[in-house]
Amino acid sequence: MLKNLVNALPKAELHIHIEGSLEPETMFRLAQRNQVKLPYPDVQSIHDAYQFRCLQDFLDLYYQGMSVLLREEDFHDLTWEYLCKCHEQNVVHTEIFFDPQGHTSRGVAFETIMQGICSALDRAESELGISSHLIMCFLRHLDQQDAFRTLEASLPWRERILGVGLDSSERGHPPSKFRDVFERSAQLGFKRVAHAGEEGPPAYVHEALNLLTVNRIDHGNRALEDPSLVQHLVESGMPLTVCPQSNLRLAVIKDMCDHPIRDMLQAGLKATVNSDDPAYFGGYLNENFHALIDAVDLNKEEIVRLVKNSFEASFLSAEQISGHLAAVDKIAGASS
Ligand code: ADE
Ligand code: ZN
Repeated sequence: MLKNLVNALPKAELHIHIEGSLEPETMFRLAQRNQVKLPYPDVQSIHDAYQFRCLQDFLDLYYQGMSVLLREEDFHDLTWEYLCKCHEQNVVHTEIFFDPQGHTSRGVAFETIMQGICSALDRAESELGISSHLIMCFLRHLDQQDAFRTLEASLPWRERILGVGLDSSERGHPPSKFRDVFERSAQLGFKRVAHAGEEGPPAYVHEALNLLTVNRIDHGNRALEDPSLVQHLVESGMPLTVCPQSNLRLAVIKDMCDHPIRDMLQAGLKATVNSDDPAYFGGYLNENFHALIDAVDLNKEEIVRLVKNSFEASFLSAEQISGHLAAVDKIAGASS
């Protein structure tokens, strides 16, 4: 019943790495198409390999997996498959991360990545009515100079990239390492987000806020360890893009029953639900909501709050947001 409501509600997704939507079947097909050698004999072995003790375990396979993405068509197919999933799941707006350094470091041109992704985004807008924004993430295990080179390479595509983000191995790579490149990005008019408080300490959330001047925090789970930080996030209306199945599969939580989503809402945090890397963590947006319904008994009011937060925390215009909120109210009202 509540799962039907989740499925029926129009939703936005704000934390999805497009390379993390590469399904094992597609990875295998693209490896054959491009003659890339994968260390797996078949699709089932790829599924079986997805056992992670921590973020780094996952990242190692994530970077290996993206090695099959070489040509414009590959980026198009990857993005199109995700957008078809959005259509199936009533995700009507999505703000997509991509990791250019994961590709340019393998000799793929920035232009190849952008043309492939953007052609799929344009097609989804016209054929499926899905709107989208692109957020270019800097890989934090690399140095700031590399991030600056990536920012430079992105400038011909300035009109197609709304924001910059920060992802990859969090421990040992604090936001402060990227202060200058975020400052330059802000001057250039990019929105700013950063993964913080997934594995890293609350201090990394402070740094993302104060040094990177972010508009949203990606994950932010560990902010809950610092009550004054929570108060600040609440008072500033700072959104958190929370990823329940990712949290479970990367051992940020031990059991889905321990997921802090209710604590976050009760504290007044602007939390949203997202899939992060759906092909690796066992589900897209609706499955993430379903997992919370099963494990923590998420109720209707909480579901509607989280879905409304997804629009309110988006980079859509105020007018677009109010249109989506009215559509949510209509469906939610019809289900009571
Ligand atoms: N890159 C893709 N998924 C990520 C995550 N959950 N944390 C950090 N970097 C990532
Ligand atoms: Zn992420």
